[in-house]
Amino acid sequence: MIPIGISLSFMFLLFTIASAQPPIYMYNFCENSTLLSSAYKDNVETLLSWVTTDSFKSNGYNYTSVNSNNHNNDDAVYGLYSCRSDITGYFCRFCINSAASELTRRCPNAVRAIIWYDICIIRYTNQSFSGQVSLSPILNITGTRKIKVMFQYGT
Ligand SMILES: *[C@@H]1O[C@H](CO)[C@@H](O)[C@H](O)[C@H]1NC(C)=O
Ligand SMILES: *[C@@H]1O[C@H](CO)[C@@H](O)[C@H](O)[C@H]1NC(C)=O
Ligand SMILES: *[C@@H]1O[C@H](CO)[C@@H](O)[C@H](O)[C@H]1NC(C)=O
Ligand SMILES: *[C@@H]1O[C@H](CO)[C@@H](O)[C@H](O)[C@H]1NC(C)=O
Repeated sequence: MIPIGISLSFMFLLFTIASAQPPIYMYNFCENSTLLSSAYKDNVETLLSWVTTDSFKSNGYNYTSVNSNNHNNDDAVYGLYSCRSDITGYFCRFCINSAASELTRRCPNAVRAIIWYDICIIRYTNQSFSGQVSLSPILNITGTRKIKVMFQYGT
């Protein structure tokens, strides 16, 4: 961790910049599948519409699941979003909204996907998040290796 004093002024600086500029796309990963059902794709769409709405009124993170209509639940989608801890309300939604559109564009056939911006992240998967979802450390962007570890962690 960065010492608190330095970290606070650094955050303030970042927040000032973030308020004035559009969020910056950093990275995405799509695990594609040719076997996706239309129900699964519909659920992904529902999830991505939920993240946009929820990010405006939440504390900057949340997760949910969109269940299938069938009893096996094999079309269920589990997803989360997180904005950096100092980003909420309008700014969080602005980033999440951009990220959701980009995710749809970049990952049209993904069973699991993740997209990172400088100040927010969206992720979804077809497997239930086991236990507690750790949200804040994932915004510690340290490159692709870290992202792959996360995928294994949460699914
Ligand atoms: C981010 O992650 C790296 C590698 O896991 C770690 O060394 C570093 O201390 C972390 N930074 C913060 C601010 O948590
Ligand atoms: C998944 O599909 C997208 C869009 O077609 C492509 O850009 C991406 O490279 C694919 N991902 C993998 C891991 O193959
Ligand atoms: C988080 O999402 C759940 C749905 O999964 C919703 O019921 C709840 O109100 C949301 N919380 C906030 C703070 O937005
Ligand atoms: C999730 O998708 C993968 C890849 O398509 C599949 O192998 C796995 O069985 C699915 N898991 C669930 C819980 O549906």
